[in-house]
Amino acid sequence: MSTMLSVQGIQTFIGQHHILEGVSLEVPRGSIIALLGRNGAGKTTTLRSIIGLTPPREGVVVFDGAEIQGRPAYEIAQLGVGYVPEHRAIFRDLSVEENLRLAERRRGDLARRGDLVFELFPDLKRLINHAGGKLSGGQQQMLAIARALVPDNRLLLVDEPSEGLAPIIVEQIVVALRRLAKDMTVLLVEQNFHMAAQLADRYYILDDGHTAHAGLMADLVKDQALITKYLGAA
Ligand SMILES: Nc1ncnc2c1ncn2[C@@H]1O[C@H](COP(=O)(O)OP(=O)(O)OP(=O)(O)O)[C@@H](O)[C@H]1O
Ligand SMILES: [Mg+2]
Repeated sequence: MSTMLSVQGIQTFIGQHHILEGVSLEVPRGSIIALLGRNGAGKTTTLRSIIGLTPPREGVVVFDGAEIQGRPAYEIAQLGVGYVPEHRAIFRDLSVEENLRLAERRRGDLARRGDLVFELFPDLKRLINHAGGKLSGGQQQMLAIARALVPDNRLLLVDEPSEGLAPIIVEQIVVALRRLAKDMTVLLVEQNFHMAAQLADRYYILDDGHTAHAGLMADLVKDQALITKYLGAA
């Protein structure tokens, strides 16, 4: 299996603060990889470093064979990297359809991808004319993911999609991510270990701004000591 994304020893600063001090990870094409770690470990900063919102000062990021570190975020997005940020950045005053249309990168993206989006998230079809701000938390998360599916992305960076959602909604998101991972590669940040364990083939654990552990998810689920040490009472 070839590598879709490779992050090699990135160091990222926010202002004077040295936030990432050597994060490395590999995401094989067609896989779901989980990025785990406690609050403040550097998970979001890692995703933002990959997409170019907080560009790394050192290290290398290779997307589908090309080095992308240092390139502006809009260029990295155009290469086919979708980003679903924490806290679901949707437009609350715009309808579901308008939210999806604004996510187009090329004219006709929504027409091309609508079938997949509405197959994954039938609620969005039903609520197509409703304002984003009127949706439930789960529906807003679905819309946030759907927006990243409208353009032709090859890699999705998804930041804590289960945050604040009821278990039954989390299950729906799990089903959707599993389905979309058939066509796409996913780097998933999650605090919900149960969810990550259901989806991911491999994991990376960040601790204090660096990669502390990596391996097969099937091994991590059996390693309660490691889970307790790095992830708390999961
Ligand atoms: N704008 C900022 N200014 C200063 N420090 C920041 C800023 N953003 C993040 N940090 C710090 O960087 C570290 C990593 O933050 P990050 O948001 O990447 O963690 P995280 O693993 O995503 O945490 P969480 O699980 O809470 O979302 C934290 O110590 C945080 O306080
Ligand atoms: Mg975060």
